[in-house]
Amino acid sequence: MPQAFVSHHPAILHKLTRLRDQNTSTDDFRELVRQLAVLLGVEATQDLGTESWLVHTPLAECVGTRIRESLALVPILRAGLGMADGLAGLFPHAAVRHLGFYRDEEKLEPVAYYNKLPDGQAEDLCLVLDPMLATGGSAIAAVDALKAWGASRIKFLGLIAAPQGVQALNEAHPDVPIHLCGLDERLDERGYIVPGLGDAGDRLFQT
Ligand code: PRP
Ligand code: URA
Repeated sequence: MPQAFVSHHPAILHKLTRLRDQNTSTDDFRELVRQLAVLLGVEATQDLGTESWLVHTPLAECVGTRIRESLALVPILRAGLGMADGLAGLFPHAAVRHLGFYRDEEKLEPVAYYNKLPDGQAEDLCLVLDPMLATGGSAIAAVDALKAWGASRIKFLGLIAAPQGVQALNEAHPDVPIHLCGLDERLDERGYIVPGLGDAGDRLFQT
């Protein structure tokens, strides 16, 4: 049985339904991807390490909380870019690390074309961002690259997945939690998620 955290939040389910709609405009599609990424990001990072922090309000001192852990947002190009902006607003201290993969349309295998992971230590937590987890090939390749870089704590955030993709990522990287807005029925013969939303990159970038 594929293992993933699938949100049940009504705001997420409502926005995800609008996102799927073929009549949703490009503008609205981009904004919905951004908002869903933020909502999912909040759900997926409840265990982020914090520390106490003294703050002076206009009335008194109080001990508050601040995020202690360093964070990397890792959008898989291209479609993952649609999720990165919203999360960078949520976590302004996060670094953004880009990885580029496209899917070979016949073999449905990921082809790497961009990797700008810097020299030096990986952040405490890496969030891999991609709206679609279909066969799982792109997500697995992204996690492979992050682990080769030295990342030890990684989570995958996606908007929609097929059961096959969740299972493949679970098997390849059982230590990587998967957070989703929706888990769909299946992949079709072209590797598209059904019912899905179509091609996320094309709908985001009007290609
Ligand atoms: C899409 C999507 C994922 C990948 C998922 O990208 O954004 O990266 O397919 O499929 P998989 O789980 O079978 O690997 P695509 O290759 O279409 O590139 P794009 O983001 O540039 O459109
Ligand atoms: N990539 C997409 O953009 N959509 C799918 O349904 C599968 C892979």
